[in-house]
Amino acid sequence: MTNDTPERPAKITPPDLVARAQRGERLVMVTAYDAPSARLADAAGVDIVLVGDSAGTTVLGCESTVPVTIDEMLMLTRAVARGTRRALVVTDMPFGSFQVSEERAVENAIRFVKESGADAVKLEGAGRTLTRISGIVEAGIPVMGHVGLTPQSATKLGGYKAQGRTAAAARRLVEEAAALERAGCFSVVLEAMPAAVAERITERLDVPTIGIGAGDRCDGQVLVWHDLLGLLPGPMPRFVRQYANLAPAIAAALDAFVADVRAGRFPDQRHTYGMPDDELKKFEEGQMTSTRRDPVA
Ligand code: KIV
Repeated sequence: MTNDTPERPAKITPPDLVARAQRGERLVMVTAYDAPSARLADAAGVDIVLVGDSAGTTVLGCESTVPVTIDEMLMLTRAVARGTRRALVVTDMPFGSFQVSEERAVENAIRFVKESGADAVKLEGAGRTLTRISGIVEAGIPVMGHVGLTPQSATKLGGYKAQGRTAAAARRLVEEAAALERAGCFSVVLEAMPAAVAERITERLDVPTIGIGAGDRCDGQVLVWHDLLGLLPGPMPRFVRQYANLAPAIAAALDAFVADVRAGRFPDQRHTYGMPDDELKKFEEGQMTSTRRDPVA
């Protein structure tokens, strides 16, 4: 018996991902923040849709991920979960939602699963985060870890820089990733670190590593939706490959819309509802003549 029906393909689970990575299959993760994007990612065969707190900078207009709230993440995750049928939906626990205590971390993780339909949560960092992760895993919720450049603590790390570039710092990253696995993570994101360090971590862990700016030896790769599709202005981090450049196409479409409305070219007959002639006549007989000037005439 399987959960796979013509209407609903089988949902990918954390154990599926572990098994597939152990067989040498490469895993694909992408961020999404709304239902239509999630639907496109799911249809493309992506394994994991991450509702990243990168939402802060990609869709919420913040300068960093730090201000993102639990309520904002719950709303975005609900939309993504509604648009996803097959991929595993992982949501980021935002800054402040797991640091205060293990109890608070477990309560908030439960909210994400119950109120937004997330399949799993992701927490940044190791250290004190480890006890939060084991508490959440004990509560029955799958957890993805995240080490290297952890944007929620970018200020403490000295900015958005690659991590683990000295032997001591590299060894620390390997230890942190191993500790995340021991705490119960089913997968670990490795962000912005030398490829050699990510390779060592990947060899050491039984659970899959998902890299972003961590070279090609990770078990999988993730990109941020807006980076992948070229939706944001400005230079991209060196680890981004832009698969499309949609911002100029969107800007051109908006320019054309503005010009058409201003010139009275939109809407035309094809975009306009009519009504039966007799009803129109009756309607017009009962109306006063308008004193407004036709803005286009
Ligand atoms: O918030 C995010 O999008 C992330 C990915 C970059 C891994 O954490």
